Amino acid sequence: KTGYITIDEGFKNTGSTTSDITFLDGEEGILRYRGYSIEDLADKADFLEVAYLLIYGELPTAAEYDVFVAKITKHTMVNEDMRKIFDGFPVNAHPMGIMSALASAMSGFYPDSFDDKKPDNTELHIIRLLAKFPTLATWCYKKSQGHPINYPKNELDYCSNFLHMMFALPVENYKVDPKVSSALNKLLILHADHEQNCSTSTVRLVGSSKANIYSSISAGISALWGPLHGGANQEVIEMLEEIRNDGGDVQKYIDKAKDKNSGFRLFGFGHRVYKNFDPRAKIIKKAADDVLSLLGVNDPVLEIAKGLEEAALKDEYFVSRKLYPNVDFYSGIIYRALGIPTNMFTVMFAIGRLPGWIAQWLELRDQKQAIGRPRQIYTGPTIKDFVEKSKR
Ligand code: SDX
Repeated sequence: KTGYITIDEGFKNTGSTTSDITFLDGEEGILRYRGYSIEDLADKADFLEVAYLLIYGELPTAAEYDVFVAKITKHTMVNEDMRKIFDGFPVNAHPMGIMSALASAMSGFYPDSFDDKKPDNTELHIIRLLAKFPTLATWCYKKSQGHPINYPKNELDYCSNFLHMMFALPVENYKVDPKVSSALNKLLILHADHEQNCSTSTVRLVGSSKANIYSSISAGISALWGPLHGGANQEVIEMLEEIRNDGGDVQKYIDKAKDKNSGFRLFGFGHRVYKNFDPRAKIIKKAADDVLSLLGVNDPVLEIAKGLEEAALKDEYFVSRKLYPNVDFYSGIIYRALGIPTNMFTVMFAIGRLPGWIAQWLELRDQKQAIGRPRQIYTGPTIKDFVEKSKR
């Protein structure tokens, strides 16, 4: 009776839904959020404008934007009892594990998020997630540094608030560099949504069982952590550093990536959908040059990255498989120039992707989709008789 089931490993040829949110054209390297090109948004918009666009379907008017930002500003503080959970983590716990746990823990602080006998408060839960993610993320960094955490400052914009909470110290005055917050704004926009990628599909699948939004987002964070997905941005920098420490011989690593037995892949290269340049990688590559020269940062791994890209794009193995740099290839170089440590790179991806996850979760709910429940083709043993333990 398995005639009607076809296995599509990795869902390479399976569509899970219709969606009005994000349009990708893998052949042409096109990415649009609700019809607006990623190039325009990265260049002209503010991250919360893009979050509003993804979640509510249209760019906000100035008045709508002000109301949205005011709501988020009012919720940037985190319940102090969350610190007891947070303080339980060892100092070297990976921030993605902490963020996934704290996102799910938020459902405990807002039980109306899963009690459907209570009025629907989804709008407020969305605001809380957008508002508190940056605060929680900076706690992870401060803990790893042994520094006191900072509280949000309501007079700062979203990106400046994040940077202030990350880098301000009680012993000195910290002033946010507008060049740094503008670079962060661009990076967050570029990560904001990407149709049915692994972590977004996870958020939708969890949401399809009518699990609450905090648990759904927590599951998305866990999926994003994987080195084949968002975790690649941390792997890229570690790979580039290894190449640099190993004398900068990029061809050696390209050859290693081509050797199937090596188990090594060029992180930041290849994509399930883009069989052309990832449009985000193009923008980030240019931004890396701009930001590093603006900040007067000279990072040798940027030259290694460019050399690696150039050599790979001339190599038959990569060209024949249409493997181009993806969003994760250059992003870590900018994060590093902004002073963000490597183990926080995937958290930055999660902060950017949060509005996309939220928009997709809402769309699934509004589409009243059935619970996700794929089938399988059974290949295990046929029926067996039970044998008493003493006789096995
Ligand atoms: C993200 O889906 C999204 O939209 C994701 C994302 C988003 O915004 O949400 O864009 C974010 O996750 C970007 C991808 C970050 N991951 C990496 O950079 C990890 C390295 N890349 C790969 O592991 C891989 O390219 C994937 C995971 C991105 C895509 O994997 P696929 O589509 O399953 O492709 P595949 O593994 O089947 O590869 C096809 C061929 C294979 O060789 P053959 O079997 O044909 O001989 O290409 C080879 C692979 O071995 N290959 C690579 C490679 N990527 C693919 N070989 C060397 N180095 C690589 N990076």
